[in-house]
Amino acid sequence: MSAPTGLRAAHRQAQCAARADRDGGKRLTIAVTGASGTVGHAVTALLAPRHRVRALTRDPARAARRGLGGDIVGADFADRASLARACRGADALLLVTSDPLRPDHEDNVLAAARAGGVRHIVKVSALAVTEPDAQDLVTRWQRENEERLRATGMEWTLLRPRAFMSKTRDWAPSIARESVVRALYGDSRVACVDPRDISEVAARVLSTPGHAGRAYALTGPAAISPREQCAELAAAVGRPLDFVELTPREARDAWRRRYPEPLVRALLEMSRRQAAGGKAAVADGIEQVLGRRPTTFRTWARDHGDHFRAA
Ligand SMILES: NC(=O)c1ccc[n+]([C@@H]2O[C@H](COP(=O)([O-])OP(=O)(O)OC[C@H]3O[C@@H](n4cnc5c(N)ncnc54)[C@H](OP(=O)(O)O)[C@@H]3O)[C@@H](O)[C@H]2O)c1
Repeated sequence: MSAPTGLRAAHRQAQCAARADRDGGKRLTIAVTGASGTVGHAVTALLAPRHRVRALTRDPARAARRGLGGDIVGADFADRASLARACRGADALLLVTSDPLRPDHEDNVLAAARAGGVRHIVKVSALAVTEPDAQDLVTRWQRENEERLRATGMEWTLLRPRAFMSKTRDWAPSIARESVVRALYGDSRVACVDPRDISEVAARVLSTPGHAGRAYALTGPAAISPREQCAELAAAVGRPLDFVELTPREARDAWRRRYPEPLVRALLEMSRRQAAGGKAAVADGIEQVLGRRPTTFRTWARDHGDHFRAA
């Protein structure tokens, strides 16, 4: 027997109230930078059903073809006017910049957010900023970015992830073509994190109260080596894969084909820190925000098996 209409309505009301309570209730306007990227795309998808999301990209047509949600807004970190339009009147902003050789990008977004009345900035930084021995270019850039943000006087929350599990997607072509993974320091471990967890944390922090002035260290549930990741990917694609350890010189030469020299040096320094055990510690930021355990590399690999089979 179904509940009387009044009771059903009261139940619905109570559910809505509980959800509103949990989410802070209000429909917010949230600007997402890096919206076509790994973290931002998923954040947009999570927030768009309940909030007004402005998804920033340099190429709105391409982003729309790739299924980006929200209101897609053309903006370039080098173009202050486009950022001003995108930020005006937003309540909160997800800050994802990706070029350590362009610190002005961060300044431009922060200036536009401040002028546009944005109250809360949620910044994707990096866990290494808390580690004094990490002095590579990328980490120094993120450390300075955090200082820039704190100096604005706006409310801030820092998300500090360890390496994304999705970095292993770089291995997809050699897995698909040769069933081989080539990587540096095969037995060095890193507590890598599923970027979907980072996005879920970001969406929660952007849309609920209580996170201002806090920094969350985001890692996976265990440290895992490239050799072990290779074994998990083999299980995910359903055939054996060979692991070939690169020398630092071979890794450097491969990175030189893709990145400018200062970034190549930074990647080598970061890899050395991983080999020395500096990236193996597990942190509890995901549990603090989401109240659940972080996703394992095994699950990430299983969920992305098609990508490696089809590359
Ligand atoms: N990968 C890791 O292991 C790792 C670990 C720790 C921290 N992080 C941090 O995570 C952040 C990267 O996050 P992600 O992987 O989600 O990013 P991503 O996939 O690299 O995407 C970044 C997005 O930024 C946009 N973008 C680039 N230049 C732009 C410009 N000039 N103006 C406007 N938009 C621009 C691009 O969008 P359009 O091309 O559409 O404009 C791109 O989709 C970085 O800050 C990095 O330091 C990464």
